[in-house]
Amino acid sequence: MNCSTSWPCASVAEAPLAGRTTIRVGGRAEWLLEPATPDELRAALVAARERELPVRILGGGANVVIDDGVLPGVVVTTDRMRRVFRPSQLAGPDPLDADVPTGRSAPEDPAADPRLVCWAGTTLPALCRAARDLGYSGLEKMAGVPGQVGGGIAMNAGGRGWQMWDVVEVVRVVDTGGAYRDIARADWSPSYRDAHLGDLVVAGAVLRFTPAPKREVQEAVRDYLRAKNAVQPVSEWSAGCVFKNPDPEASGGRTAGQLVDEAGGKGRRRGDAVISERHGNFLVNTGAATAADVFGLIADVQALVADRFGVALEPEVKLWRRDD
Ligand code: EPU
Repeated sequence: MNCSTSWPCASVAEAPLAGRTTIRVGGRAEWLLEPATPDELRAALVAARERELPVRILGGGANVVIDDGVLPGVVVTTDRMRRVFRPSQLAGPDPLDADVPTGRSAPEDPAADPRLVCWAGTTLPALCRAARDLGYSGLEKMAGVPGQVGGGIAMNAGGRGWQMWDVVEVVRVVDTGGAYRDIARADWSPSYRDAHLGDLVVAGAVLRFTPAPKREVQEAVRDYLRAKNAVQPVSEWSAGCVFKNPDPEASGGRTAGQLVDEAGGKGRRRGDAVISERHGNFLVNTGAATAADVFGLIADVQALVADRFGVALEPEVKLWRRDD
């Protein structure tokens, strides 16, 4: 493995990626860049663009299937950008300008300013815990969802009628020119599983909650976790739900999981890639699945559901193919 000092942040050549995804599939990145701060992220994106290399952003790796072989260009991981803190009173009117949390200057009563500032690499479970411990309601339905804040915002992660942008106050992105831009929730229209950010890369966000008794938040989190664990194969390697739920009018009100289930898709396999017996919208890697297995199985299931119900299932997971 080669390390290079020619990038403005930590970097690894020919970096293996499978272990950075929850489905544990995929080859290597020609270059993996690991910025540790929003400024390093900005510099990394600028440097990659100057070299005219293709850039992909890898967050928590919870919703992506990476191709086998070597991905040309740069993969930027936000993994080192894990920071969640309360807005500091000293930071002035713009909480995202605060650098590292001191903890000293936030108001003593968390309910007085029920917001959290996070950098893109903050994991969603860590964010959930921070909110719970402060008595902030708004993320309970996200309990058990893996991934990071950046990816969660970019794809507007959600479930049970809840979505990530419900708690967004402002998102700081890096634009294609390498400049920061702040997007206020009020000025943006994210939709189901897509925030429409295009080439904008999430650097951080300010999230706003509703103060609530800690015990209530905790109990809601526990209930949602229990419900999720009961129906989803949470302890197996997967990329979460594979397909978006289709328009209920086209599917007769069935979710993607129900369509796959009723079409007899559960247990279908290619190599070590298998459609979960537990939930039809989960494809699990039972050991040494390759991206070719996963891509092939996704196509098999799409064909099965199209034949049986005339519904075209659209992947929710991002498929990173080498030649895209
Ligand atoms: N069902 C079946 N067979 C199956 C799977 C589900 O009959 O194989 C039935 C269930 O019994 C239930 C209904 O389908 O009556 C809905 O299932 P579920 O509650 O699991 O909800 P979903 O619509 O399949 C959505 C999100 C999930 C999220 C859950 C939270 C999408 C595509 N999926 O699933 O998100 O965790 O709600 O309840 O929006 C993800 O984004 O990765 C993801 C898993």
